[in-house]
Amino acid sequence: MAEEKVLIGIIGGSGLYNLSNLTFIKLVNPETPWGFPSAPIAISSTPSGVKVAFVARHGEGHVFNPSSVPCRANIAALKSLGVRAIIAFSAVGSLREEIAPGSFILPTQIIDRTKGIRPVSFFEGTSIVAHTGFGDPFSNKLVKWLETEVEKALAKEGRGVKLFTDKTIVCMEGPQFSTRAESILYRQWGADLINMSVLPEAKLAREAELSYALIATATDYDSWRPHSAAVTAADVLKTLKSNAETSRLVAATILDDLHVSISGEGSDLFLEEAGGMKFSIMP
Ligand code: ADE
Repeated sequence: MAEEKVLIGIIGGSGLYNLSNLTFIKLVNPETPWGFPSAPIAISSTPSGVKVAFVARHGEGHVFNPSSVPCRANIAALKSLGVRAIIAFSAVGSLREEIAPGSFILPTQIIDRTKGIRPVSFFEGTSIVAHTGFGDPFSNKLVKWLETEVEKALAKEGRGVKLFTDKTIVCMEGPQFSTRAESILYRQWGADLINMSVLPEAKLAREAELSYALIATATDYDSWRPHSAAVTAADVLKTLKSNAETSRLVAATILDDLHVSISGEGSDLFLEEAGGMKFSIMP
């Protein structure tokens, strides 16, 4: 009998290396034309039997820095398992006073400050020229759906974690953090958050015609606050553990309903990215 497809993929960021609150089924490690994913992918199940494929973006033991994450292999490996929608988690710095460390955020826009050293396309090295639409870098329908569902999940969890929506994230190269001048500049550009990992992941998910949304979890205030020390790795580490616990609970709470939305009738409307590349390839 053919193996049942796993429709939902979760990418865990710093601090979130497993979904240990779900029932573990098995590890798989598909080799893709772009190599192996960052770590073997854990297939787990919710109590009602919905399966999810989890990959730790930075690998087992956090071995990949953001510039060297094998993003193409991660996205291709999830797709090869049948994944249609990806929820990615990432620790982020906050560029806004109201977005305190510990907050959850669903961004809708990205500013690219990576430096061109990461492979950004599945078409690199091929004879295909593709210009993929990326004006709305996250899957609008998935993000809208998450706004309600994550809010409900956080309320149910009862730790008072706030959710912010409709924010702009800067993706920088790293591995060093930003200077104070850069951090202030990003605020002037209208950015609200900063991380090192949402790109090229979101671009590759779009090329792979997968719905993709980011649940950002704030760990620090970066370096823009005039009378505060600039961010250090120790600041980031402080909130990682509780953010990861909340992320696990949020994931477990939304998975069953998400599965219904992407597998039942009307799922084609929800999964607006499916089939989108036919408008992107140059003849
Ligand atoms: N990830 C978490 N905090 C960050 C920051 N301040 N800058 C870049 N990436 C981050």
